[in-house]
Amino acid sequence: MLQIGPVRLSSNVLLAPIAGYCDLAFRLVVRKITTPIPETRCVAGVGLACTDLLCPQAVLNENRKSMWLAATCDQDQPLCMQLYGTDPDILAQAAQWAVEHGACVVDINMGCPVDKVTKKNGGSKLLCDPASTVLLAKRVVEAVDVPVTAKIRLGWDDRSIVGPSLAPALADVGIAAITVHGRTTEQKFRGSCRLDGIARVVEAMKHHPGVPVIGNGDIKSPQDAKRMLDVTGCRGVMIGRGALKQPWLLRDTAYYLATGELPTPLTHAEKAEVMIDHFDTLCRLRGEETALRMIRQRISWYSPGLQPWPGLRRGIQTVQSAAQFHDYMATGIEQIKSVGSEIAVAAV
Ligand SMILES: Cc1cc2nc3c(=O)[nH]c(=O)nc-3n(C[C@H](O)[C@H](O)[C@H](O)COP(=O)(O)O)c2cc1C
Repeated sequence: MLQIGPVRLSSNVLLAPIAGYCDLAFRLVVRKITTPIPETRCVAGVGLACTDLLCPQAVLNENRKSMWLAATCDQDQPLCMQLYGTDPDILAQAAQWAVEHGACVVDINMGCPVDKVTKKNGGSKLLCDPASTVLLAKRVVEAVDVPVTAKIRLGWDDRSIVGPSLAPALADVGIAAITVHGRTTEQKFRGSCRLDGIARVVEAMKHHPGVPVIGNGDIKSPQDAKRMLDVTGCRGVMIGRGALKQPWLLRDTAYYLATGELPTPLTHAEKAEVMIDHFDTLCRLRGEETALRMIRQRISWYSPGLQPWPGLRRGIQTVQSAAQFHDYMATGIEQIKSVGSEIAVAAV
């Protein structure tokens, strides 16, 4: 099993940070979807989940929005909190704050390509100054007694592929795991994830066997994850957008990697129940109005996995209360159960 410093994970499948999406409610939903692995005492599911990127100064000020982003609870373990920025002292203090507020792993974001972050030299801009980045990492490692990890891209662009040199330098100062998204910053999310690039980082880390490399990018199925492990030699996989469409993908992947077989797929109705659970968890944590707004934003991610259900998107956009949401979903699920998922529930 995958281990990050002293933290032993129950699977080598990790939930990626996705700003605006991987909040506490979503993490709890994904964590709940598990299946026992036959003939073992293990359960297939999420190995580690991460908060979205947190601004260290905002965290230290306990700014309201950041407190929502950093919110966690006992069921949300093991949890990694991700920080971005460039000021070593502020990052170190924010890392201490993260540990005091529930993080058992702290991650430094070195991969965000968004201008708002890179213009202040944070996120993937850290790839452009590896020497300072290593010192920054060292400062954070020394500030906390939990493992500190780094999430990088291959490099800023094709002319500066720094992953294979930066990863071992980070390990030398105590970084406990490296996640590599197989694209450059310049690529943003264009093109496809480059497994050969991830393989080069894995190869460069061969003298650091205690520091796992986790591969990330474009995993949409358990088979994609297996291919990433086989082709690159990485020890774990991190899944982002695939989980927004199919929150059960982490369970399916962990099961497949452990057994070589796919678990019994969720029925159509069970998938709809996942979305209901997401809504109910949002209601509990954020209140009805926010839950309705957020589930409307999420329906375009859920919708493809719940097809055939024509009208689902429109239906969710029009519900005005939790009661209406539940009525709408219950009617749809009853129809699915009575006619089978092959027949479109056009009337809903
Ligand atoms: C909308 C969006 C927000 C993201 N936010 C973060 C973030 O806060 N921190 C981070 O390290 N990566 C972030 N990422 C990158 C993902 O964690 C992941 O590396 C990337 O989406 C590739 O993996 P995937 O193909 O499985 O989604 C974000 C990606 C997207 C699309």
